Amino acid sequence: MTALEVIQQRQPGFKPRVGVILGSGLGGLAAQLDQVATISYDDLPGFPKAGVSGHQGALLLAHAGGTPVVLLQGRAHLYEDGRADAMAIPVRTLAELGCEALVVTNAAGGLDDDMMPGSIMLMTDHINFTGQSPLFGMPGDDRFVDMSVAYDAELRQRILALAAEMDLPLHQGVYAWFTGPNFETPAEVRAAGILGANAVGMSTVPEVILARHAGMRVAGLSIITNRAAGMSDTPLSHEQTKTNAALATDNVQRLLTAFLSGYGGAGR
Ligand code: HPA
Repeated sequence: MTALEVIQQRQPGFKPRVGVILGSGLGGLAAQLDQVATISYDDLPGFPKAGVSGHQGALLLAHAGGTPVVLLQGRAHLYEDGRADAMAIPVRTLAELGCEALVVTNAAGGLDDDMMPGSIMLMTDHINFTGQSPLFGMPGDDRFVDMSVAYDAELRQRILALAAEMDLPLHQGVYAWFTGPNFETPAEVRAAGILGANAVGMSTVPEVILARHAGMRVAGLSIITNRAAGMSDTPLSHEQTKTNAALATDNVQRLLTAFLSGYGGAGR
């Protein structure tokens, strides 16, 4: 059976409109939604094994207000086994379930002076510094994906409007994808800044490319868990990422819940 078949068998007729990939520390969003079913990644062929601490490895079907949604609690990263396409089946499955849009979330280091730990950045674009694409080896002409409007302008406007209504400060910026798992050097961070990055991280970009390949609209939120390497005296660690992600968890979850509940689903 394929992952799609497993999900459809578990919850026949459930047709999510939006998919969400939850990064480090955001698994709690599930508690704010009306849950329909939870399926372990272990039961979904082609889904990643739960690996990094802070990630749960489960797919959740739920309702946010009147909107049927699917949440992926946990992702695979390029740094785990060197595969940029580790999320190909999960993202493809969301599209096949009927998701029109994908919201990606992550933890990132901030470059801008006003991006303190616990702040949130709406992704406007990205830079891929890894030299990898999840579409390597993909057949067919549709592998030549247009990335010029990867982050949907209308979805961004909706999220900005919701944040303003909630009085929630929301930065906007460009996310630069590094392979990890080591953090960047200060020189790499300076280089990324010169080239236009506002935040650096180790995830998300492959899923965005896969989602665009599958025809989904994309929105992205970064939780700034630290000032990027060389910008503060605090040593970087995964422990710090998890601790500081918690500073923004409530705000991101409120923003996402409002976004999902109000999702209009106007065509692709
Ligand atoms: N760099 C890369 N990934 C990250 C960082 C960072 O500074 N913080 C959280 N994830």
